[in-house]
Amino acid sequence: MANRLITFAGGASLGFIASRILPPLVSQTVASWNTARGHDPFQYLAEDHDRFRRLLAEMEESRGKGTFHRTQLLARLKRGLAAHAMAEEDVIYPLIHDEVGAEVAAERLYSEHGMIKTHLYALERTMGDEVAWLDRAAALRRLLDAHARQEEEVEFPRLRGLLDHDALARTARHIRREKAMML
Ligand SMILES: [Fe+2]
Ligand SMILES: [Fe+2]
Repeated sequence: MANRLITFAGGASLGFIASRILPPLVSQTVASWNTARGHDPFQYLAEDHDRFRRLLAEMEESRGKGTFHRTQLLARLKRGLAAHAMAEEDVIYPLIHDEVGAEVAAERLYSEHGMIKTHLYALERTMGDEVAWLDRAAALRRLLDAHARQEEEVEFPRLRGLLDHDALARTARHIRREKAMML
């Protein structure tokens, strides 16, 4: 499985991770509190999707606003996607693979994360070319929207249906822990 895990955090240094030790502890406390209230772990991920959709819409509407503005939007998207992808790849997709038994679906989701990463790299490289950058942002929006809809409408519901209350709470804690490593 390890060789299939694809994250958006390739360049994360140990120093960076160490500097984030305190926020994860705080985040885990919040996660415990939320799961104690029965918060649906899949709702966290769906809320991320909505944030990414809004950011990508902003990116597509950034014509004439300059490279500094575009750089900031891209940085926000990459940061959010890094945490989101790590949570899905380390917690959710293995469950889809092992518990749901949907090996092909899990492989496809991992693969699409790789394609998303390719688009992010291209967006960095084309920062100075507004037309190419906007085209790439539109392509990423289409890919990410289709990927997120597949998760929200098919993969998450069928996994949720197999998890009891304790497993849902445990999954929520694991998602928070993985995301806290990146935020
Ligand atoms: Fe995903
Ligand atoms: Fe997702």
